[in-house]
Amino acid sequence: MKINKLYISLTLIGINITFLSFKEDPNKKITLKDITFTNPKGFPKPNYNFDNNKLSVEKFILGKTLFYDNILSKDNSVNCGTCHQQFAAFAHIDHKLSHGIYAKIGTRNVPALQNLIWKDSYMWDGGVNNLEVQPINPIINPIEMDETIENVLIKLKKDSTYVSLFKKAYKDTIINSQRLLKSLAQFTGLLISVNSRYDKYMNKKDTFSISEKNGLKLFKTKCANCHTEPLFTDNSYRNNGIKIDTLLNDSGRGKITGIEKDNQTFKVPSLRNIEITYPYMHDGRYKTLLQVLNHYSDTTNFEKNEDTSLHKIGHLTLVEKTDIIAFLKTLTDRAFLYDKRFSDPFVRYN
Ligand code: HEC
Ligand code: HEC
Repeated sequence: MKINKLYISLTLIGINITFLSFKEDPNKKITLKDITFTNPKGFPKPNYNFDNNKLSVEKFILGKTLFYDNILSKDNSVNCGTCHQQFAAFAHIDHKLSHGIYAKIGTRNVPALQNLIWKDSYMWDGGVNNLEVQPINPIINPIEMDETIENVLIKLKKDSTYVSLFKKAYKDTIINSQRLLKSLAQFTGLLISVNSRYDKYMNKKDTFSISEKNGLKLFKTKCANCHTEPLFTDNSYRNNGIKIDTLLNDSGRGKITGIEKDNQTFKVPSLRNIEITYPYMHDGRYKTLLQVLNHYSDTTNFEKNEDTSLHKIGHLTLVEKTDIIAFLKTLTDRAFLYDKRFSDPFVRYN
């Protein structure tokens, strides 16, 4: 009897162990087809060219693993995905300003990461003009990851998982900063959002309600000169009239160019997935889309030096605001937000 009981419990333990060790490998299912880039219909030619960084499954997986690995931060506590959360289109939901290493608070709202290959510069002020070098910024920033590239490379070379991932990706044993950055760019570059209801509507695969149609019409006349379709940005820097936050005193593009007229201008953000990337603006000052529309709808809100094209927005009625918001919500791309190719490969224990 006793032996029987022992046998049964051992079998149970055995089953348990098998279940625990049989963790599904989320990278297993990624095939070449999943990472092949074709320019979406109606989109301009991208600024970032994958011909100079040939896509491969192994490089993409290396880039994705790095993106989600705390190893890039000094005390192994922060990864890119800490601030860039997939379910929020890789923005940081509900945080006005970014939160980094040692619980330090940054000075800007975390932008969504999407359709980056069509951008000609990055950050709210366009301070970085190359997708491949962009990650150096958060890695070395003392309030984001506070690490050095040199030390990251030392850590990666000591880690047998990375020795193997780099070898699979590059077919030799060299681990260097160029490979680190290029593989990260394969991951960030493929974060492409083009499957919203808006896209389906434009491709005649979905219909809009009367309110959404009306919202689109209003949007085209009042907003699209800056938030230009299909990317919902014209990649320019503008002053959209929001008042200067005197505590942050962020001069925006002016800080980069030193040109006075660039002060308080910021890169026009894309409005794709805007429903779930709140709070809004470079400093996260608005929590809701209605607050954003209340701002645009009242010229007395505007800071002097606002872009004059804002004047043609004029006063918006509550119905017009509601219609524009209904339209903006059609830009949510659930397939992108829950796309397994981009999801965190680590199992995290809290
Ligand atoms: C502590 C939070 C934090 C971490 C960690 C972080 N970021 Fe960011 N990221 C931000 C903020 C804030 C900005 C906007 C910065 C600015 O405008 O000055 C940004 C901007 C970006 C942009 C530019 C997006 C655009 O459209 O202009 C990219 C790309 C990006 N991050 C990728 C990464 C990668 C890759 C990593 C990891 C190596 C990373 N980030 C780590 C907070 C973070
Ligand atoms: C003159 C150009 C311009 C026009 C016109 C314009 N915007 Fe903007 N919009 C901007 C800029 C620039 C920002 C970022 C400002 C900042 O953060 O300082 C912005 C930010 C936003 C944001 C917040 C985005 C985010 O990720 O935080 C929303 C939402 C928005 N605009 C919607 C609209 C709507 C709706 C209209 C039309 C009623 C409109 N905009 C008209 C330039 C413009």
